[in-house]
Amino acid sequence: MPDLIPAPRRMHNVPPPGLYVLDDETLIEARPGTEGVAHWLRTTVGAATGLPLAPGGDDDNRIVLSVDPSVERELGPEGYRIVIDGYAVRLDGGSAAGVFWAAQTFRQLLGPDAFRRAPVRPRAAWHVPTVVVEDAPRFRWRGVLLDVARHFLPKDGVLRYLDLLAAHKLNVLHLHLTDDQGWRVEIERYPRLTEVGAWRARTKVGHRASPLWDERPHGGYYTKDDIREIVAYAAERHITVVPEIDVPGHSQAAIAAYPELGNADVVDTTALSVWDTWGVNPNVLAPTEAVLAFYENVLTEVLDLFPSPFVHIGGDECPKDQWKASATAQARIGELGLTGEEELQSWFIRHFDRWLAERGRRLVGWDEILEGGLAPGAAVSSWRGYAGGIAAARAGHDVVMCPQEHVYLDHRQADGDDEPVPIGYVRTLEDVYRFEAVPPGLTEAEAAHVLGAQANLWTEVTETQQRVDYQAFPRLAAFAETVWSTLPAPGRRDYTDFERRMAAHYPRLDALGVDYRPPGGPRPWQRRPGVLGRPIEGAPPIV
Ligand code: ACM
Repeated sequence: MPDLIPAPRRMHNVPPPGLYVLDDETLIEARPGTEGVAHWLRTTVGAATGLPLAPGGDDDNRIVLSVDPSVERELGPEGYRIVIDGYAVRLDGGSAAGVFWAAQTFRQLLGPDAFRRAPVRPRAAWHVPTVVVEDAPRFRWRGVLLDVARHFLPKDGVLRYLDLLAAHKLNVLHLHLTDDQGWRVEIERYPRLTEVGAWRARTKVGHRASPLWDERPHGGYYTKDDIREIVAYAAERHITVVPEIDVPGHSQAAIAAYPELGNADVVDTTALSVWDTWGVNPNVLAPTEAVLAFYENVLTEVLDLFPSPFVHIGGDECPKDQWKASATAQARIGELGLTGEEELQSWFIRHFDRWLAERGRRLVGWDEILEGGLAPGAAVSSWRGYAGGIAAARAGHDVVMCPQEHVYLDHRQADGDDEPVPIGYVRTLEDVYRFEAVPPGLTEAEAAHVLGAQANLWTEVTETQQRVDYQAFPRLAAFAETVWSTLPAPGRRDYTDFERRMAAHYPRLDALGVDYRPPGGPRPWQRRPGVLGRPIEGAPPIV
């Protein structure tokens, strides 16, 4: 049986065992609604194999793509059925997305060279085994967060990442676009957000207690056309891009660009620059009408760019010290009749919850948005363990589980001096394979609020695309299986079988050019020895 990642629900051979052979005559018949998948197959598998895969529908020798209502009934909209005999390949989906996931499985069946961008063996015989695969995802939110704020990932890197997500049947890219250390999306009304906010003069190297600085300026941002391109490229791959504009904390880059956004009666906000180090930053937004109006204007442009039903507004790690010290903030608490600073945070979040709902969108925020009262209709990204997600689900809110102890991919995947800066937890490939999105103790109705899960890749110590690859892979393959496949309870999962199938998956990652961590440990260039790789004596833990 072919070794697929993530594992499908059901797969069996079509007797007698045989092969379907692709050649220059092989046609693609795209039935209504599947033209996009045909285009993807032709440009991707066509490029790798060198076969024309021309459109057509009369001969036996063809790949037939169709949206099939019976597949939708049995396996849901993202479900699919593949039937391969000696004459033809059928990729039937419950929707175009299902057909696309079928096409991803079909590429795995072709072998690792199907993951390249051009043929490497001129006279290679391309074939797939005669099998039936019936498959469907467990969750509808199968996400990855990329933090492009701490270290900018140029546009090509994001597009490449979308291809890697698609290859693992992941369907949400959460782009963390703004933070203390950088603002990464062009906003026409406020050009200084990128003129000033996208650049920092220098960068702390490694752990925040490290004595090292990279004295080179760092930055970059996506123009509006870059974002349009990213969103369209994602849509072609049935991936939703969820933008995050983090408020009211994580805002120093915005305040550096527009000092009036900060608590100017407490600190001299004109003296602030884009932050050059890591940790939780005290410089948060001022709770004024002018600041709300500024962010409404920002979000108006963001909604125009991102069709995602969900818009992430952050809400995490907002220290309240400046609001405590600010006469303006205290007056606001009085005017609004709030009990204190925690409620001021809720007021901030509720404002944008209403504002987004009026525009047909839904707010999603980090689990701190639960503090001081959860905004009605808001969904929660549960990052500080499962507790926030459990509380939110019990209160009838939708949840994306991303507990840092389990699925923070910036954390190390092994102990040892060769691994990167030790922040957070050690999570091995096996640990991630045993991640479970639905915690025990939820009723069926509460569990139905768990939309899915997300692996978060923060980039304080992950400076380049190569480092992103190292942190993400192979763990993202294990994560993908936990959100796509129907697996037993964590303790009963067959990790040995997963490892066996991974042996077939590493060559696919090699063909894709992914600089993953090999099972035996880092390759020489992946090592981060010395001060970067070890905890600094006496340094506070970073999580
Ligand atoms: C987070 O990791 N601060 C959401």
